[in-house]
Amino acid sequence: WLERLVRLDTVVSTQEEARRLAESGAPEGTAVMAEEQTGGRGRQGRRWHSPRGQGIWMSVVLRPRLTAAAAPQLTLLAGVAVCEALREVAGVEAGIKWPNDLLIGGRKVCGILLEAHFREGVPDYLIAGIGVDCLAVEEDFPEELRAVATSLRIERGGVPVDREELAAAMLSGLEERYRQYFAEGFAPIAARWEELSVTLGRRIALAGPKEQRTGVAAGLDENGGLRLVNDAGETFTVLSGEIEWMN
Ligand code: BTN
Repeated sequence: WLERLVRLDTVVSTQEEARRLAESGAPEGTAVMAEEQTGGRGRQGRRWHSPRGQGIWMSVVLRPRLTAAAAPQLTLLAGVAVCEALREVAGVEAGIKWPNDLLIGGRKVCGILLEAHFREGVPDYLIAGIGVDCLAVEEDFPEELRAVATSLRIERGGVPVDREELAAAMLSGLEERYRQYFAEGFAPIAARWEELSVTLGRRIALAGPKEQRTGVAAGLDENGGLRLVNDAGETFTVLSGEIEWMN
């Protein structure tokens, strides 16, 4: 997929650029990477701070032939591939917070946003957006983010990471895991996700539309949902949302 990487300077969001390419028929694996985003988007409608030259701001076009129900599996797959690339290239102990935030020492270093685009009710293509804080120093983060966000440079004791090498490893890792998914199914991806997870075994809270539900994270189910066990010992599964640690 690396040969399909398009480099741009300033964009509003690489998600929109990738979408434009997908709409005009760009093949699977086409990726867009920008130096800066002026309107970077995060999950749940949040903004994603994407300052010039400091990170990897990248979106990849995927065209899986799947039902909408399998989208959570691809969300987890993307987390696995990017986490492995961070560990290999940057040498950091990154772990996955469900579904696909990457944390180091409890602070977030990378966020992944999967957006599905539908045609006549079926998913037509997906855009996987990946944002990695590579080069920021502590002072670059606004005060309120310092406890919860970090960069690869901070975690490497000030040593900058080669963004080119990391982006290439992320793309080839994504491609490899994606092929594995279609050849062998979701099970090996789920097993690797569980190994890399910093969520399993923890007591977590999930904010729902009506109430907050809590439970201990026990593992993934076959669809990519997170299995939780509540205080009454009952198992329930969540497919999307935002979790908070309780311990
Ligand atoms: C999150 O954790 O909320 C997801 C953040 C995703 C950020 C990336 S940066 C590249 C791509 N373009 C965007 O506007 N967002 C994603």
